[in-house]
Amino acid sequence: MLQDKILVTAALPYANGPIHLGHLSGAYLPADIYTRYQRLKGRDIIFICGSDEHGVPITISADKEKVNPNVIIDRYHEINKKAFKQFGMSFDIYSRTSIPIHHETAKEFFLEFYNRGLLSEKKTLQFFDEKVKMFLPDRYVEGTCPKCGYEEARSDECENCGAPYEPSELKNPKSKITGQTPVLKETSHWYFPLGNYQRRLEEYVSEMNEKFGWKENVLNQCRSWFKDGLKDRAYTRDLDWGVAVPLPDAKGKVLYVWFEAVLGYISATKELSKQRGDENLWKDYWQDEHTKYVAFIGKDNIVFHTIIFPAMLMAWNDGKNDKYVLPQNVPANEFLNFEGKKFSKSRNWGIDVIDFLEQFPADSLRYTLAANLPENRDTDFYWKEFQMRHNSELADILGNFVNRTLTFVHKHFDGKVPARSKVETIDTEMLELLKSFPFKISELFEKYKLRDGVSEMMNLARAGNKYFNDSEPWKTIKNDKEKCAATINICLNMIYTLAEVISPVIPNASEKIFKMLNSGIVKWDDCANADLPEGHQLNNAEILFAKIEDPVIEQQIAKLNVSAPVQKPELQPQISIDDFMKIELRTARIIEAERVKKSDKLIKLKVDLGFEQRQVIAGIGKSFEPEELINKKVVVAANLKPAKLMGLESQGMILAVEKEDGSFSLLTFDEKVNNGTRAK
Ligand code: 2FM
Ligand code: ZN
Repeated sequence: MLQDKILVTAALPYANGPIHLGHLSGAYLPADIYTRYQRLKGRDIIFICGSDEHGVPITISADKEKVNPNVIIDRYHEINKKAFKQFGMSFDIYSRTSIPIHHETAKEFFLEFYNRGLLSEKKTLQFFDEKVKMFLPDRYVEGTCPKCGYEEARSDECENCGAPYEPSELKNPKSKITGQTPVLKETSHWYFPLGNYQRRLEEYVSEMNEKFGWKENVLNQCRSWFKDGLKDRAYTRDLDWGVAVPLPDAKGKVLYVWFEAVLGYISATKELSKQRGDENLWKDYWQDEHTKYVAFIGKDNIVFHTIIFPAMLMAWNDGKNDKYVLPQNVPANEFLNFEGKKFSKSRNWGIDVIDFLEQFPADSLRYTLAANLPENRDTDFYWKEFQMRHNSELADILGNFVNRTLTFVHKHFDGKVPARSKVETIDTEMLELLKSFPFKISELFEKYKLRDGVSEMMNLARAGNKYFNDSEPWKTIKNDKEKCAATINICLNMIYTLAEVISPVIPNASEKIFKMLNSGIVKWDDCANADLPEGHQLNNAEILFAKIEDPVIEQQIAKLNVSAPVQKPELQPQISIDDFMKIELRTARIIEAERVKKSDKLIKLKVDLGFEQRQVIAGIGKSFEPEELINKKVVVAANLKPAKLMGLESQGMILAVEKEDGSFSLLTFDEKVNNGTRAK
């Protein structure tokens, strides 16, 4: 039977920061395990990845550092490439979207759609930040929702009540980049008629699911998009960083980053063709209907790979003879958290991959992440679990089985594979069980149940230890050497199979074991034949995993949460003491507190200033329940002009600090200070 070719892509990470463990377990490690396994199966497979080097966040980082965006992408492309290498990613290519071949590919797609009259040009009003002279993407504008009064609404829709609206309807808009009030400016963009593809996309998703079993989390997201109805989508942006829109009247416009990023998979494969001097290689995968295309991603990328990208490929295929393959499966993972919380660079919560791998073996990290992949739900990385997996599983189960067997052979059989002439039931049963493992693991890997496959691989090592213990070779060596020889022969063959099945997950340990066995890797389907020849000379035993001691892990835990250096904020211009004294800061006790209707942010307070009582409307409803505010002694800016918030008068402001996660902490006084005392 003709074997399908396999094309594997892993999401192109933004070259705007270092990847963390969450990225590894979301998309990259699963893709690598799958690819390494398929290579051992002898499949014709290529594995594509690279940096995603466009988009607004990169330009913002560049502005902050006052450098050209090229500096940012060059820096993080190299850092991430190095991290992936140290982690053992076996990409066929790690490309980047800033290379000319990518720009050409993206332009080719855009022009094809444009020339076919598929794209429509529409004029809209969009927010423009005059300070940084840029149009603001929707998520970089915040204001009050015109429908429900929610104060952190985006420029196009409200997260709180779900209402869509025109940017001009948003109240009190602020640029998230400079904090300034942006102006509305007319602009025009080219829109792709995504809605026209809805029926075909629904059929595509359901056919792929029926044939190849898509994951429930992926299907759910698709269903929810279909239910809302697909709408026209702008495939261009006003920005000067990206792939320029290839039209004469499009100065200052680039292709929407997601439009071109997904095409980055194709251009990276073209680049690989070039590197290998085989100009048709990319077509052999992308444009052959016998290719099985699998796209590994994290859950935040689902819609782009199951709807946006397939629609683009469908559109292309409609007008061309060279047709692209669509993803056959998109086995997206959920997220990995770190010690119970989200990874956060700014809060120093997490660890850089490169730092990690400078201190611990890549295999230990790969195994820990693989054993706990967020395949169906979010999972966590815990340092203590890492230590446990390394010490109690890799060292005590796998390492121990390999080491005790090899040491035994060197001590009692001159380091040569002994004969398997005397086999009893326990031995034949073990050999049968051994043969079943590669098949079991294979079935799981083919279905993207990688975590279960990894657990089976450790079960094989467990079975090895049990067989060694039950057979008691340290006794039989004294009274039944032939039986002892058979036991050790079988243990060595188990180690051989183990070395193979662990190879996709922990390739370095696999290589070390093959070296000890003085042997090499074979095809997956042949690894359970248990036929290491009698008399075969083995190499010396080596320790596979040295234990990680408690203080080493405790040191890592202690490093968390130590404040990361913060950037110096832009301070307001200096003022005189006289100016400062114009502000009346007075202590007051909160005597009443209730939520403002239809707002989850605002709380109506009554405060006692000693000399009078006031009503203050405070935006702290997400951080406090009204009851817990009663009796708190706070500081009030008492000579502010009254302001109206959602129709209610606020006669002052209470002082609070906004923390990085957006929650508030109040400035409070102890009970002994009289109400109305001035703070200076
Ligand atoms: O989420 C991300 O990191 C995106 N840069 C992934 C892009 S995947 C594909 F489109 F290239
Ligand atoms: Zn709203």
